[in-house]
Amino acid sequence: MIILSVETSCDETSVAITLDGRTVLSNVVLSQIDTHTLYGGVVPEIASREHVKGITHVFKKALKDAAVTAADVDLVAVTQGPGLIGSLLVGINAAKAFAYAHAKPIIGVHHIVGHMYANAINQSLEFPLLALIVSGGHTELIWMPSHMQFERLGKTQDDAIGEAYDKVARILDLGYPGGPKLDALAKTGTARFAMPKTQLDGYDFSYSGLKSHVINVVHNMAQREETYDPADLAASFQKAAMNQIFEQTQKAIKAYHPKRLIVAGGVAANAYLRAHMKDVWDVPIEIPAFEYCTDNAAMIGIAAYYQWQASPKSWSFDFNGFARMDFLTEAYNKGEEVIR
Ligand code: KG4
Ligand code: ZN
Repeated sequence: MIILSVETSCDETSVAITLDGRTVLSNVVLSQIDTHTLYGGVVPEIASREHVKGITHVFKKALKDAAVTAADVDLVAVTQGPGLIGSLLVGINAAKAFAYAHAKPIIGVHHIVGHMYANAINQSLEFPLLALIVSGGHTELIWMPSHMQFERLGKTQDDAIGEAYDKVARILDLGYPGGPKLDALAKTGTARFAMPKTQLDGYDFSYSGLKSHVINVVHNMAQREETYDPADLAASFQKAAMNQIFEQTQKAIKAYHPKRLIVAGGVAANAYLRAHMKDVWDVPIEIPAFEYCTDNAAMIGIAAYYQWQASPKSWSFDFNGFARMDFLTEAYNKGEEVIR
């Protein structure tokens, strides 16, 4: 089964061709980083316009790179949400136009489900599994008894970990995109600053206290005209942020005994996480290859394959995109159209 998938939820315009929910034949990602760098962050209106400018070219290149024609495509899949609504709608409308013109079935996919299924590229998932989601908008532990079955064990009570990375990077004047820049800076520093440890219920997370602490440290030192090495502060923040991830995940592993731990989302690209996550616990850990951690359409195509197995029914052309949406609804678990 050949799937053409589209992802435009934030600042990457991406189209991929995947085969049988396992093999990536092409994965074209047009990044808008250079454009948004000028403004120090993603400007939603500009993101939408950049998607409009790039999407046709990205569709053509994905087909060409995979040596596939429109006629070969069996299913069209597109990120339905969550994300920037204007950006999502560019991808959704392009996917609908392609599906309509070539008389192909189409389905919508949840962005975070796509991130999780990046772990199914070139391999089979082993169930039951525990999924750790660490992205710009989500920090969650999800229990998956089988394909497309999701039960949330814990989530962040306030900020997502990626959001905290981005805000701390901004305070340290590292520019956009903050997460990777803070990651690189932390490598050169020593975690010598004391960081607060948040008391957490169950398998939940919390990052606003840690973020506020770093902001206060920076302001207090500025007031006292003290000099410090920002790399040390970055390393201290990173160690505390990741310790929380490691501790809560370990607690869930001990209680649930999954066959696998999969890591998903943009922060899975983090070097400290990748170095320290492996071999820590008594469970095999999967982290997607670096290029499949951040936003890409290949992960959407892989998820779409399993969603289609659960419910092989084309959605009607009037489905909408959603800035906010959950993937734990019964309809989504069955791969059916999410109606709001
Ligand atoms: O998963 P993603 O696309 O976000 C959502 O889907 O919500 O990932 C984007 C997030 C951003 O917050 C970005 O700063 C963070 O992932 N990120 C990183 C790294 N690379 C991306 N955070 C820390 N270290 C990195 N190397
Ligand atoms: Zn993402």
